[in-house]
Amino acid sequence: MKTNIVLIGFMGAGKTEVGRILAKNYGFNFIDADSLIEKREEMTISEIFSKKGEKYFRDLETEILKELAFLKKQKRGTDLKSVPFLLSAGGGMPAFNDNMNLLKNIGTVLYLKADPAVIYERIKSETHRPVLGGEGFTPASIAAKLSEREKFYEKADIIIYTDCLTQHAAAEEISIFLNLKDN
Ligand code: S3P
Repeated sequence: MKTNIVLIGFMGAGKTEVGRILAKNYGFNFIDADSLIEKREEMTISEIFSKKGEKYFRDLETEILKELAFLKKQKRGTDLKSVPFLLSAGGGMPAFNDNMNLLKNIGTVLYLKADPAVIYERIKSETHRPVLGGEGFTPASIAAKLSEREKFYEKADIIIYTDCLTQHAAAEEISIFLNLKDN
């Protein structure tokens, strides 16, 4: 039986898009943690940060992981669908609470790694990044935040270097690592 897949990494690493491609091509239920939280709270992530604060958001992330760990055991779902699933984690998720252990318990964890300069190029035109202060982030501020988180990200089971990969190529590489084509 296929095991669940978890994609982690900094904002702009490609978790959502690569996750969608893999889920579609290899028959996983796709779960995007941020979208699920926005749907449940009926607010955007930026609104949750500004109205309820970051701790509230981080606790919601952990709640989802606990539900997913339960889903894995029980093989039944609520709005979380069913196994096997592919979870695209929020960029900060691995760095809070005991989330990295929960993530590893849920499925095979892949870290989509990217250089701060590459991340900057990918997200520079976006303004909905509350942990980077909305507008005005720089490659240096990205590098600082990334270095705080790297020790969590690197606990992943597999690291995929995405700097030179398109999203389709990253998905292809993951499918080879996980032997998805033969399953
Ligand atoms: C965050 C990353 C975002 C989202 C929230 C916080 C972070 O997810 O969860 O804005 O702390 O890095 P993406 O990485 O999917 O953009």
